[in-house]
Amino acid sequence: MNNEILLDKDRLPVRYDDKPCYDIVFKDSFADLVSEVDSVVNLEGRKVCIVTETTVAKHYLEEVKSLFCNASCDFVGDFTFAAGEASKNLDVVRDLYEYLILNKFERRDILIALGGGVVGDLTGYAAATYLRGVDFIQVPTSLLSQVDSSIGGKTGVDFDSYKNMVGAFHMPKLVYINISTLNTLSAREYLSGMGEVIKYGIIRDRVFFDWIIEHTDEIKALDNNIVKAMVYRSCDNKREVVEEDPKEQGVRALLNFGHTLGHAIEKLTNFQFLHGECVGVGSILAAGIARDLGIIDDNTVNTIKDAFSRFDFPDITDYDIDTVVETTKSDKKMSKGQIKFVLIKSIGDAFLSLDVTDDDMIKVLKEYKDARG
Ligand code: GLY
Repeated sequence: MNNEILLDKDRLPVRYDDKPCYDIVFKDSFADLVSEVDSVVNLEGRKVCIVTETTVAKHYLEEVKSLFCNASCDFVGDFTFAAGEASKNLDVVRDLYEYLILNKFERRDILIALGGGVVGDLTGYAAATYLRGVDFIQVPTSLLSQVDSSIGGKTGVDFDSYKNMVGAFHMPKLVYINISTLNTLSAREYLSGMGEVIKYGIIRDRVFFDWIIEHTDEIKALDNNIVKAMVYRSCDNKREVVEEDPKEQGVRALLNFGHTLGHAIEKLTNFQFLHGECVGVGSILAAGIARDLGIIDDNTVNTIKDAFSRFDFPDITDYDIDTVVETTKSDKKMSKGQIKFVLIKSIGDAFLSLDVTDDDMIKVLKEYKDARG
């Protein structure tokens, strides 16, 4: 990463297996969506299914659908499911398969994922598996999906209460980011996405971390140029990681910073807190473990805590500590029964540790709870 954040660029090519694979484009509207899609998959004579959820559909489905209806596609359909993590399951995937079969979708046809992380992950999984794989386009509309989940080809659904337990790697043909969709998110939803943005700063990009702190007010006010630069820089961080390690055999695991305890807390608080909010708490706890192990000092932990406070992250304390630790055992991020825990040596420098014990987690969870009464 270089030191210049405000770059005037609107396209980021992503490579896979050392070959160009797909572009991430950064726009202020949907005006170029159809031409961008057409240039990578040639819409002529193909069927398109826009997959979305109820909240996003209210804002954008009609507009996006009419854009495709005016193109040279054979058929434009839509499939809308109930908003929320509870829909990210195989029953909804089954309904989508049924819709595609009834409408005679073939292998040459295309799915468009219009929405946040749940829509992107579920649509990508259906695209990976329907007829052994059809093309799909990511049109992420939440901050979290724009900076993280739409990039890198991870697709999947939850299984019972196990998050992202069933899935596949399937690369999109294009990631089309319309920054203006962030304006229709609730403030809470938008700010929770900062969990993943701040994460890039903490694990690998100190310059970006300091820039985020410096531009807190503009980011909170959704200043267009600042937010575009922030989304671009986040995507560039993600691009570098997934190009180096597309299947998470090494460095990609560092993106799970804050997620081991964050996921457990998300599950044990019955998904009443947003994913990014739980990642925020998980990040503060991970920093606390690094401090308790003598790797970083108190100042660094406080700088990280302060970063999340600036973006109004909630404290989350309503869970049983032993159950949180037990829940981390069912996480995917295990290696031969041992948790792969992401820690930091300093802000901007993360590493994977197999040495974090249950007692380390219990200690930091107690400290966190005690400090918040
Ligand atoms: N969201 C983490 C990853 O894509 O690996």
